[in-house]
Amino acid sequence: MDLDIPRHIAIIMDGNGRWAESRRQSRIRGHEQGAESVRAITRECARLGVEQLTLYAFSNENWKRPRAEVSFLMRLYQRYLIKERKEIMDNNIRFINIGRTEVLPGYVQKELQKTIAMSAENTGMLMCVAINYGGRVEIMDAAKRFAAEVKAGTHEVDDLDEELFAKYLYQPSMRDPDLLIRTADEMRISNFLLWQLSYSEIWVSPICWPEFREEHLMKGIEAYNQRIRKFGALKT
Ligand code: FPP
Repeated sequence: MDLDIPRHIAIIMDGNGRWAESRRQSRIRGHEQGAESVRAITRECARLGVEQLTLYAFSNENWKRPRAEVSFLMRLYQRYLIKERKEIMDNNIRFINIGRTEVLPGYVQKELQKTIAMSAENTGMLMCVAINYGGRVEIMDAAKRFAAEVKAGTHEVDDLDEELFAKYLYQPSMRDPDLLIRTADEMRISNFLLWQLSYSEIWVSPICWPEFREEHLMKGIEAYNQRIRKFGALKT
């Protein structure tokens, strides 16, 4: 049977800490191993012809973690961005990000900008990393930008509809995810893509992110194929 490949897959990568703790290893080891899963899943999504993959790497709330863990994660993103650039280019992936990146350490911002610029002309899968991202803050930022334009006289309040509002989100050209995957058996959205997930299919895997591989992704895609998407209407 030919599978319908979701055009946009979003993933909440959860369970790095639990995976490590179950092996009596440090949480940091879980994050390191999680970066391996990012590589494997990105490559597989590109191979399957997924148009966009969005990964939740760091939330606005993750700053509340111990300082040492936050610093490790920042250094891991820096290393990932340097190391995976070749992989991104070899796979014709266009790299973008969402989130308030302006408060990230300079060394992460620099590598983000470099990867975005270097891959800007690529024509394959769009890979979006959410880093220092929160859905509520994204909606708030969009509301502020629209309000500023009303104040400046560029728009009237009554111009606002869903289509116009979406243009103020971090990546206006991004389509809504068709499938949201969350790992490690958690059934929460955790402030991820609150606007964009309105009609997405949600699939939860019991596998912790560091162990999540191609065969698990395929299970999610198969589950997606069993769903009937109605977008609030009746099945036709
Ligand atoms: C959730 O596991 C994971 C994170 C908060 C960080 C996500 C980061 C990675 C997957 C590392 C690699 C990413 C990139 C883009 C290179 P958790 O620590 O909340 O796990 P727990 O709930 O079991 O404690």
